[in-house]
Amino acid sequence: MELNGLFITVEGGEGTGKSTLIRSLYDYLTDVKERFVVKTFEPGSTTLGKEIRNILLHRKELIISSRSELFLFLADRAHHVEVLIQPAIDEELIVLCDRFTDSSIAYQGAAREVCDLDELEQICLFATNGLVPDLTFFLDLDPKVGLARIKGEKDRLEEEELAFHERVRDGYLALYEKHKDRICKLDAAKSPEEVFKDAVALLEERCSDRL
Ligand code: TYD
Repeated sequence: MELNGLFITVEGGEGTGKSTLIRSLYDYLTDVKERFVVKTFEPGSTTLGKEIRNILLHRKELIISSRSELFLFLADRAHHVEVLIQPAIDEELIVLCDRFTDSSIAYQGAAREVCDLDELEQICLFATNGLVPDLTFFLDLDPKVGLARIKGEKDRLEEEELAFHERVRDGYLALYEKHKDRICKLDAAKSPEEVFKDAVALLEERCSDRL
């Protein structure tokens, strides 16, 4: 049987359960669909990316301007696409990625207001060499609930005020309205089992011919 590469991303604000959903989708795609799946994330999945991630999230003493923050996330992504994501898709694997371009548009675009959102989409496309996910799951949740779920020390972005995280959510909602053909919205206030069930139904509906 001829298989196709497939690129699936999972998006959402803080504490929305992205990692839990990705683990369940990984098991489903490998065990039930018997596909080879690459599970990855941004920022920080490559050797270069790990250094960039540390600068972006943990070097809290550094002052990072909004524009340079954007380009650091994009530098991480450009390298990630080139050395890991695109080669895996070309090998007809399924790539499951925790965050991608929509994160830059929601966080740096909608929340930080670094530049016009349409312009930002173009800049992001340059960084990914035109790569766009086939399907995106957006886990939607009230940021107050999401932030309350975070345990341990907060990173530089988690530390932002509530209004920032509300703008992130609004950014995702606007992206969802604009790209309904690609983005599926999931109610992250539901239990992890229910969210997973909803995600599988949508995956089968949208991509059954490619699974
Ligand atoms: P991470 O520890 O990976 O956490 P999460 O579980 O929230 O994904 O942190 C990544 C942080 O970086 C998160 O706060 C979102 C932010 N981010 C951006 O601001 N822009 C981006 O382009 C990406 C990929 C992430």
